[in-house]
Amino acid sequence: MNDLQGKVVIVTGGAAGIGRASALRFAGAGARVVVADRDEDAARAVAAGIVEAGGEALGLRVDVSRDEDCAAMVDATQRHFGGLDIAFNNAGVSGRIARTEDQGLDNWHAVLGVNLTGVFQCMVHELRAMKAHGGVIVNTASVAGVKGAPYSAAYCASKHGVIGLTRAAAKEYGKYGIRINAVCPGYIRTAMADEIAAGSAQGSSEALVAAAALRRSADPEEVAELVVWLSSAKASFVTGAHYVVDGGLSA
Ligand SMILES: NC(=O)c1ccc[n+]([C@@H]2O[C@H](COP(=O)([O-])OP(=O)(O)OC[C@H]3O[C@@H](n4cnc5c(N)ncnc54)[C@H](O)[C@@H]3O)[C@@H](O)[C@H]2O)c1
Repeated sequence: MNDLQGKVVIVTGGAAGIGRASALRFAGAGARVVVADRDEDAARAVAAGIVEAGGEALGLRVDVSRDEDCAAMVDATQRHFGGLDIAFNNAGVSGRIARTEDQGLDNWHAVLGVNLTGVFQCMVHELRAMKAHGGVIVNTASVAGVKGAPYSAAYCASKHGVIGLTRAAAKEYGKYGIRINAVCPGYIRTAMADEIAAGSAQGSSEALVAAAALRRSADPEEVAELVVWLSSAKASFVTGAHYVVDGGLSA
């Protein structure tokens, strides 16, 4: 299963949830992993776990809403591992659960700043690092990037934006050998999902589970499998695409 032997990967939001599961799965596939998160201690702990298991990893503090942090993350990756092959731009926040008129401009800027501007800023620096030799970028959108998500206007807009950004950049950078795709998770059991489910239009995690064709939520590892596949040579003709991994929630 060492499909990604020696590849250098950045995972943002890598300290928890989908990011953590993906960082571990990348390491399991032989990649050298930069675990980047605004929670530095947790990022270092995930990296230490990978090293303990015989892999190579670096834990870094990054706030993806700050462009200087995104630049420093890519720079540190190149200095430490000598390059950058794959980036999983996954850090995200759910924001306030409220009617659109009550969302608040502060919430709008906070959510867009992390979920959309954050992905954009990471991509700018990653693309510059990859342009000479090619690479792969996977961005985390959401089912809320392809469907309306009531009481989550800022979150929903940010995730639709991630898909647009992914498509635009894929068109531009294919000629440099860079593939760019997005994943759209449904209800995945993480800290964030609990927040979203509590305030969802359906009102509870049970209702979200019932709305999925498979009648269950998922483990973060089930998203990580898709992320690692998209990052591997097995997905060599896949770019500008978004994949739902939602147990049929959006079907
Ligand atoms: N869990 C779900 O059901 C679900 C569904 C659809 C989409 N998503 C998306 O998946 C991604 C990961 O979410 P998760 O469920 O694993 O959440 P999580 O809360 O478990 O993990 C998110 C991680 O991102 C980090 N983070 C948050 N803001 C950051 C910032 N500004 N800079 C750097 N790191 C930051 C957090 O510290 C945390 O470690 C998010 O983009 C989220 O929108 C999750």
